[in-house]
Amino acid sequence: MAPRNIIIDTDPGQDDAVAILLALASPEKVHVLGITAVAGNVPLDLTQKNARIICELAQKTDVPVFAGAKRPLERTLVTAEHVHGKTGLDGPTLPAPEMPLQDQHAVDFIIETLRTEPAGTVTLCPLGPLTNIAAAFNKAPDIIERVQEVVLMGGAYFEVGNITPTAEFNIYVDPEAAEIVLKSGANITMMPLDVTHKALVTKERNDRFRALGTPVGIAVAEMTDFFERFDREKYGSDGAPLHDPTVIAYLINPKLFTGRYVNVEVETKSDLTLGMTVADWWRVSDRDPNAMFIGDLDADGFFDLLTERLGRL
Ligand code: BDR
Ligand code: CA
Repeated sequence: MAPRNIIIDTDPGQDDAVAILLALASPEKVHVLGITAVAGNVPLDLTQKNARIICELAQKTDVPVFAGAKRPLERTLVTAEHVHGKTGLDGPTLPAPEMPLQDQHAVDFIIETLRTEPAGTVTLCPLGPLTNIAAAFNKAPDIIERVQEVVLMGGAYFEVGNITPTAEFNIYVDPEAAEIVLKSGANITMMPLDVTHKALVTKERNDRFRALGTPVGIAVAEMTDFFERFDREKYGSDGAPLHDPTVIAYLINPKLFTGRYVNVEVETKSDLTLGMTVADWWRVSDRDPNAMFIGDLDADGFFDLLTERLGRL
């Protein structure tokens, strides 16, 4: 089967970085048409730079990187340096990028690509707040029906929240954008915390990254060393959850994942539960299903795939 054309919309972020590496290492499965940066884990000037740092680490400098929204649609930006460090990519020491940032705005790149490529052949992979995607849908509603699939990392149901007691970071940062995407009618698959908290980099799994002995393997191990301290302290978990790479792994091998096609709505009004994703997992409402909500994965299979792919770079 021909590789799927994808646009990675991202706010790197160590786990975003691993997702980008996984995609760039899998050209027979996914063809990365471009990487669009958004403000999220850290401000936009850092996320667009980090995206280029990672392309250079992978030696894939021909992938165009675009800068998008500096802030959420209606709110002040909330960042997560407490998780990802000051640069967003704390851990390894990586050189400043030399490859250029594209002049075109990320939102315009998304619109143009969806209008130019045949309908139903471009998949959007949002790994951060949904600001760029919602802005593109708002500006050019004609592109929505041309999207093959939106496979996104965001939300939570059984795991509830990580940035507030009830909200996952990507949705919390821009709940209005998330609502636009979830109500758009596009074909959506979600990787919520319910699944990503099962993709934990244990010491043994991180040792396997390091043992690759390559600049990529060592950088990923060092990113994970940094990133995991937050989750160990907060959740007492066995290592860092690799949230965002689940999106790319799903495109490479969906059989690693299971979920339910259910209704998912976002809370945009309540101060108490802002950004909460209410998933009708038990199908107790009469609201129409709008997303494949993933709940579980074969964690060993996921890490085998990831390690093998990182070893290609
Ligand atoms: C999500 O928030 C960010 O911190 C991660 O990169 C991931 O996309 C997890 O809640
Ligand atoms: Ca992210």
